[in-house]
Amino acid sequence: MILVFSGTGNSMYVAQSLSRILGERVATYPAIVQANDNERIIWCFPVYSWGVPPVVIRWIDACRSALTASGDHYAVMTCGDDAGLTARQWRRLIGAKAHGAFTVIMPNIYVLMRGFDTDPAEVEDAKIAAAEQRIADIARAIETGFSGDDVTRGRFAFIKSKIIYPGFVSHAMSPKPFHPTEGCVGCGICSRTCPLHNISMKDHRPCWGDNCAQCLRCYHICPHHAVAYGKATRGKGRYTAMLHLVNGSECDTKTNKGSV
Ligand SMILES: Cc1cc2nc3c(=O)[nH]c(=O)nc-3n(C[C@H](O)[C@H](O)[C@H](O)COP(=O)(O)O)c2cc1C
Repeated sequence: MILVFSGTGNSMYVAQSLSRILGERVATYPAIVQANDNERIIWCFPVYSWGVPPVVIRWIDACRSALTASGDHYAVMTCGDDAGLTARQWRRLIGAKAHGAFTVIMPNIYVLMRGFDTDPAEVEDAKIAAAEQRIADIARAIETGFSGDDVTRGRFAFIKSKIIYPGFVSHAMSPKPFHPTEGCVGCGICSRTCPLHNISMKDHRPCWGDNCAQCLRCYHICPHHAVAYGKATRGKGRYTAMLHLVNGSECDTKTNKGSV
């Protein structure tokens, strides 16, 4: 069984590709599904600040008793550049059944700090093209029972995962700076598609609650590029290539750079 959390579709793309190759069923966050005896579990999720997203940590905890009969666990993590020690953190969360961990480099979607933006179109295309072979290789490794980490850790992994990640989770994940810009037409797509149901509509304007994963689906899916995060998103791009996988027909796939 593949258990997937995906904000903007990258991890869903990987999960669905693995499902096609391996013939595994897919369960999407926040589903809690009973595992069959000795069933292989593949966790598929994005890397957040060189660590496991808090929403995924809570999901792993919530799934624990449903997965008691399961067999080996694998992690297939998507990231824009590098994962630091995320695999090590995931192993600790899973315990003795953690078997293999992999990363797949996908387009970056993080735009909430200075210096962070979506990739140029040609970089996005190249990452998606390379991911196809990478996913096929990972599927083969899982089928043959690979144990260990095959991950892009990047430089300064210890500092990123042990010092920056805890600070990021404590101080940089607040949903408070989210707000609609003047371009908001009140269509409510952000509210309907939030995976945590954290956005309500009041007087045709979205309002963010406290239960936010910071997955940025609301920001990237807005067809009017009218979701902002303080001033940090000014002039930043949208990433839309995989949104149809998390939102079906509600998705507008045109790219819209720099109009917030
Ligand atoms: C809050 C946040 C933090 C992120 N931190 C990292 C990171 O530490 N390293 C990295 O390479 N990519 C990072 N990214 C980029 C995502 O991991 C990457 O784009 C991922 O493929 C998105 O997956 P999704 O579309 O399934 O949500 C971050 C994205 C978000 C939203």
